[in-house]
Amino acid sequence: RWAAAGGPRLVLFAAPRSFCAGVERAIEIVERALDRYGPPVYVRKQIVHNLHVVRELEERGAVFVDELDEVPEGVVTVFSAHGVSPGVRDEAARRGLRVIDATCPLVTKVHAEARRFAARGDLVALIGHAGHEEIEGTLGEIPDSVVLVEDVDDVAALPDGRRVSYLTQTTLAVDEAADIAAAIRDRFADAEGPQKDDICYATTNRQHAVREVAEESDLVLVVGSANSSNSRRLAEVAGRAAPAHLIDGPGDIALDWLADARAVGLTAGASAPPALVDAVVAALGGLGPVTVEERRVAEETIQFTLPKEVRSR
Ligand code: F3S
Repeated sequence: RWAAAGGPRLVLFAAPRSFCAGVERAIEIVERALDRYGPPVYVRKQIVHNLHVVRELEERGAVFVDELDEVPEGVVTVFSAHGVSPGVRDEAARRGLRVIDATCPLVTKVHAEARRFAARGDLVALIGHAGHEEIEGTLGEIPDSVVLVEDVDDVAALPDGRRVSYLTQTTLAVDEAADIAAAIRDRFADAEGPQKDDICYATTNRQHAVREVAEESDLVLVVGSANSSNSRRLAEVAGRAAPAHLIDGPGDIALDWLADARAVGLTAGASAPPALVDAVVAALGGLGPVTVEERRVAEETIQFTLPKEVRSR
C-alpha cells in the first residue's frame, strides 16, 4: 500500500480556490481589531467556518463565543462573516457592546432583498440549509414572512394564497438551487427571484473549477472544515465525477485513497487558508515525485472595503 501510494503523481489545482473576498475581509477585521483595540476581542460564532483560522486568531487574543450573553458588557465584539439577525443587533446595542460587523457584503445584500420582498407583502421562500448561521440571520430579518425551503419536496408544502418570492443562501450547490428555484416558478408562475443570483461569485467559481478538475482526476481532495457549507458543496460536486474527500489538512489524508490515484485534483473552500493547500502538496510530494498543473476557470478581482471601525486612519 505504501509503495502504491507513492508517485509519480499529477496534482491538478482547481482555480479559483481557497479564500474569497468576504473571508479575507472578515479575518482582516479581527486582526485589525486586535491591533487597534488590543485583546481580548470577542467574536460571535466562528468568524469563518475553518478550524485553522479560528485557532490562529485565538492565539492572537480573539475569544469566540456562541451567543452574546457570554460577552462582558461594553467590549469590542465582531459579528462573523455569515451575518446576524436584527435580534442579535438589538441585544448588542442593549448590552452596550462595541460592535464591528464582519458580515460579508454579499450576505447583507440578501438580507436587504428579504426585507424588500417582505415589505411588499410577499411570502419569501428562502432556499438553504436549516441551522446554518447565514440562514438563521436571514430568517431573523423577516420572521413572519419567510419559509425555509431545503429541497424540491418543501416547495409542495408552501401555502397558497400569497405572492411568493425566493432567495437563496450564498453557498449552495448551484445546480441544486436552480432545480429548487425552477420548482418554485413552476408552482407560482409569477414568483420573483433575486435581482442577481444570491449564490455568490466565489461559490460559483469554486464549484465550476472543481467540476472541471474532477473530470481529469482519479481522486479529489477538498481542503475545508466539516461545518463549512461551501466546502462541503465542493466535495459533493467533485464527487459526481471522482472519489472526493473533505480534509481539514494533510493529516486527514488516508493512504488508501492514494493507492491508484495518479491524478489528484485539489481545491479548497472559500474559508480554507491557501497555506493548507500548500501543506497538502508538500505531503503528497513526500510520497513521491509530483507535477503540478492548474485549471483556471475565472479570475477574481473583487475586494470589499473594511468597516470604518478598523479602516486605516
Ligand atoms: Fe461572501 Fe461568498 Fe465568501 S458570500 S464570505 S464571498 S463565500
